[in-house]
Amino acid sequence: MDLESIGASPRITTTIKLDHTHVLAAFHRYRTDAPQWRKVAIVNTICAALEIHAQLEQEIFYPALRAANPTATVLDKSVPEHDAMRENIAKLRSMDPGSSGYDATLMVLMREVLHHVADEETILLPMAEDILAADLRRLGVRMNTRRAQLVSSRPAELAVNTAGTFPVLALTLAGAAAIALISVLRSRAR
Ligand SMILES: [Fe+2]
Ligand SMILES: [Fe+2]
Repeated sequence: MDLESIGASPRITTTIKLDHTHVLAAFHRYRTDAPQWRKVAIVNTICAALEIHAQLEQEIFYPALRAANPTATVLDKSVPEHDAMRENIAKLRSMDPGSSGYDATLMVLMREVLHHVADEETILLPMAEDILAADLRRLGVRMNTRRAQLVSSRPAELAVNTAGTFPVLALTLAGAAAIALISVLRSRAR
């Protein structure tokens, strides 16, 4: 990618905040009295978004922050918190959506995510803006390129669950997933 394109790309901190906003919006769509198919679609959307986001942070954002500030102990709890979140995701996927503990397990996951997101947005992202200033856009490009690869590995699942979660956005996002898939296939074909 040329320098001009990098200059027009969002910073990694902006991309991370957008991911947080998207997943919190999906949590707010959840209703305990909704039909089970809709609950499952929303939960699957939340879980996939969290998995992709956590992987992107662990592959790209946290290592960049760690390299720039090796003594940042606040980072020590980031991956363990992702792991705790993954345990709840696995638990939810193994549960019957009609079971008594389903809603409560999702609420536990939501509390964990809210706490984690608050720490990232009040501590890690401002730290990144300070110490990674010159690299924020380049890292944003890396994150979005990697995201396209991860999304393209599960496009049907993401499109179906997004349609059940955000019906109005579904067409746009399904289109974005298709475009991401095409661009990855083209780059592989070269
Ligand atoms: Fe995180
Ligand atoms: Fe995050």
